[in-house]
Amino acid sequence: QDDACAQRIIAAKQILGKRVAILAHHYQRADVYRHADLTGDSLKLSFLAAQTDADYLVFCGVHFMAEVADILSSPDQIAILPDMAAGCSMADMASLSNVERAWREISEILNPDETITPVTYINSAADLKAFCGEHNGIVCTSSNAGKVLQWSFKQREKVLFFPDQHLGRWSGHQLDIPLEEMPVWNFDEPMGGLTPEQINKAKILLWKGHCSVHQMFQPQHIIRFRNQYPDGFVISHPECNYEVCKASDYVGSTEYIINTIAAAESGTRWLVGTELNLVSRITEEFKSQGKIVQFMSPMVCMCSTMARIDPQHLAWALENLVNGNIVNQIKVPIEEAKLARLALDRMLKIS
Ligand code: 13P
Ligand code: SF4
Repeated sequence: QDDACAQRIIAAKQILGKRVAILAHHYQRADVYRHADLTGDSLKLSFLAAQTDADYLVFCGVHFMAEVADILSSPDQIAILPDMAAGCSMADMASLSNVERAWREISEILNPDETITPVTYINSAADLKAFCGEHNGIVCTSSNAGKVLQWSFKQREKVLFFPDQHLGRWSGHQLDIPLEEMPVWNFDEPMGGLTPEQINKAKILLWKGHCSVHQMFQPQHIIRFRNQYPDGFVISHPECNYEVCKASDYVGSTEYIINTIAAAESGTRWLVGTELNLVSRITEEFKSQGKIVQFMSPMVCMCSTMARIDPQHLAWALENLVNGNIVNQIKVPIEEAKLARLALDRMLKIS
């Protein structure tokens, strides 16, 4: 049945030719990833989406990635997400209403438009990117968060960083900002659960959001590995918690993780703290180069929402295109897209 589905995808792609580009994130399951024309981390896929001239951008990733493809491509290009249920649980942890409320509450103490740069991780809905566009803020990805923070501090003295507290904390730490100057804004509580002193003292206000996949990695996994393999290397994604990042030898985006291990010497052993589909793929890939790649957790840590994009959904979306039907189009409203693009363009310019 798997083979039959793969054949349907290959046949539909052949008919559509250059009119379609299939983009896939590194976390995509193997039976979908193999059909991709363009692969990468969130930043690379944003650049690729902006550059490709295919009529249809079929995004095998999660919802916010397809939104970014729609915003960055030209108006006559069409972004498609093969399964609308492929969301990102972290992106869902910050809503526009909660961020607007935070902005209003902060304004009781200081003028946020004069003192705060809002920074949204690309893992967020388009309306939050639009909020950043409107308030002279910016988008970041896991591969440029440090640069984006440096840019932000040139604009204003503070940052409100959403939705991923871990990426914000680690990136702030890399810029030598003390942890006590990066309190968490808990949107479930009035004034984020912070005192006016904490807000005044803060350099970065971190949002109470996280990735449900990366939260599974823990420092004890690293300790166990180091006890067993003292010469081994540990590499993690910055969505892991601060303690995990601190205990790692290298921290960076999915593209960085792949490139770092690719450049390593044969015979090296790696413990990798990121999503299972990616780690399984590179374990196989690097075996032939004599490198041993291990998954960090004893649990199965998969991005289950991204895995909803399966070969059946991909075949269905492509065959509909062959028949002249557009299904599951992702279309960001024009005004929202214009503002979101401002924040995305600021990021692309400094990346
Ligand atoms: P990358 O920036 O490495 O693509 O990470 C995106 C993501 O969603 C990780 O969970
Ligand atoms: Fe979102 Fe986490 Fe999946 Fe990345 S791995 S897309 S942050 S749920």
